[in-house]
Amino acid sequence: MTRVAVLKGGRSYERQVSLASGARVEDALERLGHEVIGIDVGSDLLRRLRDAACELAFIALHGPGGEDGSVQQLLEVLQLPYTGSGVSACARCSDKILTKHALRDAGLPTPDWVAFSDSAFRELGAADTLDAIELRLDFPLVVKPASQGSALGIKFARTPDDVPAALVAAFSYGRNVVLERYVPGRDLAVSVLGRVGGGAEVLPIVEAIPQGQDFYDFASRYDIGRTLFECPAELDDVLTARVQQIALDAYELLGCDGFARVDMMVGDDDEPQILEINPIPGLTETSLLPQAADAAGIAFDELVARVVEVAQARATRTA
Ligand SMILES: Nc1ncnc2c1ncn2[C@@H]1O[C@H](COP(=O)(O)OP(=O)(O)O)[C@@H](O)[C@H]1O
Ligand SMILES: [Mg+2]
Repeated sequence: MTRVAVLKGGRSYERQVSLASGARVEDALERLGHEVIGIDVGSDLLRRLRDAACELAFIALHGPGGEDGSVQQLLEVLQLPYTGSGVSACARCSDKILTKHALRDAGLPTPDWVAFSDSAFRELGAADTLDAIELRLDFPLVVKPASQGSALGIKFARTPDDVPAALVAAFSYGRNVVLERYVPGRDLAVSVLGRVGGGAEVLPIVEAIPQGQDFYDFASRYDIGRTLFECPAELDDVLTARVQQIALDAYELLGCDGFARVDMMVGDDDEPQILEINPIPGLTETSLLPQAADAAGIAFDELVARVVEVAQARATRTA
C-alpha cells in the first residue's frame, strides 16, 4: 500500500476533464488498495502535500500548469515521486512549437507550419508577413494556440481572409500560435504505455471519426455520440506498424515516461503526420488512452497500477 496524492482540477481550461480523470484514478487506486488523498490543485498544494505525507503523486492534470512541467518541477523540489513524464518532456510536449521543431529536427513527420508570438505582432510587425504565409503553406490552414489541449481555440482558415479572426481566437488562449498545413485524412490517437522494466509499448490505435462535422470540437470530444471512436482503427498491417513506430519514436524523442498519447493525421496519401504529443492524456470514461489500453486487454485498474509502478521504478532508479 502506498499513500498516493491524486493531483486534479487546477486552473486550466481543462479543469473539468481533469476532475473527471482524477476521480476515476482515485477510485482505481482505492480498489488497488492504496491510501488516496485527492487534491484539487491550487496555491495550497505544497502545504497539502506536506501535511498528507504522501509517498507518490499521481498527476491527473491537463493543460497549462499541470501538463507543462510546472507541477513536475515543484514535485522534484519536494523529492516526491510522480507519475508520467518529467519536467523537460512535459515542457516540450505542452508547447506545440517546441514539439514540432524537435520532430522536424529528428526527421519525424509533422505538418509544415509557421508560428507567431503575440509580441511579434505587437512589436515586430508580424502582421505584414501574413501574405507570405499563403505562398509558404497553401490554404486551408489550421490555426491553433501553441499550448492548449482539447481542441480549444483551434480554427480552420480556408482563405487568407479567415486568418486574422482565427489568430485573434488562438491568441486569446496563449502567447504563441501555430499556423499549420491542413492534413485531410484520418484522425488517429496513438497511446504509448511505459513498461516497469524500462521501455514502452504502443497500444492499439484509436481513430476518431467525426459524425457530420469537419472535425470534433471541444464539446463533441466529451459528448458521447458526436464522434465515433474506433479501436483498433481499421488500417492495414503495414500502415498500423508504421503509425505505431512513429508514435514510439516521438515518445522516446521527447523523453516521455509512463504514458503519453500521440495525435496524428494520416493523410489521404497514407503518410502519418504528428500533430502533438500529450504528456498527460485524459483518463475519463470516454478518453482515448484508457480505450486503447482496454483494447489491449489492460483494464483501467491495471492501467493505473502500471502507471504507478513505472513511476515507482523510476524513483528507485534515480534515488
Ligand atoms: N494540421 C491539421 N490538419 C487536419 N486536422 C487538424 C490539424 N491540426 C489539428 N487538427 C484537428 O484538430 C484536432 C485537435 O488538434 P491537436 O493539434 O491535436 O490539438 P489539441 O491539443 O487541441 O488536441 C485534431 O485531432 C484534428 O482533428
Ligand atoms: Mg490533440
